[in-house]
Amino acid sequence: MSAPTSAIESVLVENRVFPPSDAIVKAARVSGMAGYDALCAEAEKDFEGFWARLARENVQWSKPFTRTLDESNAPFYQWFADGELNASANCLDRHIGTPTENKTAILFEADDGAVTKITYKELLARVSQFANALKAHGVNKGDRVLIYMPMTIEGVVAMQACARIGATHSVVFGGFSAKAVHERIIDAGAVAVITANYQMRGGKELPLKAIIDEALAMGGCDTLRNVFVYQRTATACNMVAGRDKTFAEALAGQSTECAPVAVGAEHPLFILYTSGSTGKPKGVQHSTGGYLLWAKMTMDWTFDLRADDVFWCTADIGWITGHTYVAYGPLAAGATQIIFEGIPTFPNAGRFWQMIERHKCTIFYTAPTAIRSLIKAAEADEAVHPARSDLSSLRILGSVGEPINPEAWMWYHKNVGGERCPIVDTFWQTETGGHVITPLPGATPLVPGSCTLPLPGITAAIVDEMGNDVPNGSGGILVIKRPWPSMIRTIWNDPERFKKSYFPEELKGYYLAGDGAVRSADRGYFRITGRIDDVLNVSGHRMGTMEIESALVSKTDLVAEAAVVGRPDDVTGEAICAFVVLKRSRPTGEEAKQIANELRNWVAKEIGPIAKPKDIRFGDNLPKTRSGKIMRRLLRSIAKGEAITQDTSTLENPAILDQLAQTN
Ligand code: WT7
Repeated sequence: MSAPTSAIESVLVENRVFPPSDAIVKAARVSGMAGYDALCAEAEKDFEGFWARLARENVQWSKPFTRTLDESNAPFYQWFADGELNASANCLDRHIGTPTENKTAILFEADDGAVTKITYKELLARVSQFANALKAHGVNKGDRVLIYMPMTIEGVVAMQACARIGATHSVVFGGFSAKAVHERIIDAGAVAVITANYQMRGGKELPLKAIIDEALAMGGCDTLRNVFVYQRTATACNMVAGRDKTFAEALAGQSTECAPVAVGAEHPLFILYTSGSTGKPKGVQHSTGGYLLWAKMTMDWTFDLRADDVFWCTADIGWITGHTYVAYGPLAAGATQIIFEGIPTFPNAGRFWQMIERHKCTIFYTAPTAIRSLIKAAEADEAVHPARSDLSSLRILGSVGEPINPEAWMWYHKNVGGERCPIVDTFWQTETGGHVITPLPGATPLVPGSCTLPLPGITAAIVDEMGNDVPNGSGGILVIKRPWPSMIRTIWNDPERFKKSYFPEELKGYYLAGDGAVRSADRGYFRITGRIDDVLNVSGHRMGTMEIESALVSKTDLVAEAAVVGRPDDVTGEAICAFVVLKRSRPTGEEAKQIANELRNWVAKEIGPIAKPKDIRFGDNLPKTRSGKIMRRLLRSIAKGEAITQDTSTLENPAILDQLAQTN
């Protein structure tokens, strides 16, 4: 772990402050900084009592817990461990018999604009029926089910149905390759796959089931018995007799009632794979009780949710944001939410704004990369500018996935929020389960580019490499000092890696987030300065540099060596830049272009299109120290197009720098 120098160097000078209006403060659930401070004080005074109160008030337990936090086997913390609950019952059944039962739970807008609505009562029936179908096919409590679905109501139904019977789901984003799916089926020992024949994106029909077939054909998926196929489109797909069933076939004759299976609070609700510093993705394992508590609480606190809100989180269910703020949080909180199948630029780049108007969306939650690309589009074409849509229904905006640059923040504030909507810049991770550092819309004065302050009960801090607190104004390593209910429980199949990755010894048992951060000297506000490990953030998606390197060198007929680094990019935040040494002589001109494309397609096949390097540079060699270590900091400078100012005296082959800087 190295100190995040960028954090120390660039203490952002941002003087603009946007406090919430009096009216917003008055109406908010957490009202003003006094409201926030009171909750923080409660957590500080009686940490366990605070969490126990929230858990009793916000979760329906079929068996109440008597013990709040068990630290005896740290860092394998347990929360509410002797309590029992069901996550699906907490999202659906809890609303039955209340006015929410006939409220729209999901308003689905398809790629082609067709709208489908489903009430809580109807959703419960759909989930129950699918849960029965799973049971009828021998899927039981504790089994793992891989979900590879498009953004649809059925995607949420699949997740909720697993939760209902106590099966642990592992959702894989529809953009990942057959190889990635294959690895995840085997690592989790999945007994079933839930997928769709195709997905619709931007008017195109893209195969999903064919990728599952390809993954299963790779062999070794010995645990797998069933594949359930949702027919999203009329196009036929290959079906293997005995193994594959359409949703219609699986659901035939199944009752729409299914008693939720009570599970212990620590029962794994899901596994979600994410990139780390090695080539192998980590299966982040989450609990049921603590996770669900925080999904619900953060809906109430961060989004100040009200009964009449129309909530829209644009994230795909394949990412943690789509788990917590699509599949679980909004339902647990009884919200009406929008789910969108398509892409923000189809049929034009005004789609988001038009949808906000069409559905009178009140809370809109998206990623900086989407905002930046829509700024570009709006600047190029007045017809897709947010000003062309009536956005007056909006009351709160959110940002997630990567740092939002102050320029994009200001544009979002002015052009989407009409200068009236607070922006919650929510910092969190797959591992944190839900928000950890974020403004509260009716309390926190906002500073563009800052995720401001930790939520009550979250003991976030910035420390040096020995775990000592650093003063405000100096950069350091972001940690969370005490456990919290929605934290990662372990890495599936790899508890040692869990300990090593998140609780390194020198950090005094603190949770290591993997980001650098700095707190402002005046307010103590947090600003995230980026990852301190070998993980890139491309369009808000985490990509391990080692993962991409492994993919490149696995093309053994062509590639001798590869090093991958990130460089800043206006739209995607970071862009992937690969330096490649071929087994043949260094290509130039057209040949270089053609091989670069071949390698990009190779990476798309190995990992998924999201991992394709934007730049590929070829060299006769890579810059190495005399002991053979690749000097990545030099590669980072070259990728950025910067002059090399670092010390290169330990470099064995300095001439290589000029060569790499010239090629593209
Ligand atoms: C990494 C986690 C959490 C949902 C989506 C990403 C970066 C996330 C912010 C933010 C600055 C952010 C961090 C973090 N990140 N939100 N508001 N400001 N950086 O989840 O794939 O697990 O990635 O995303 O680097 O460590 P993830």
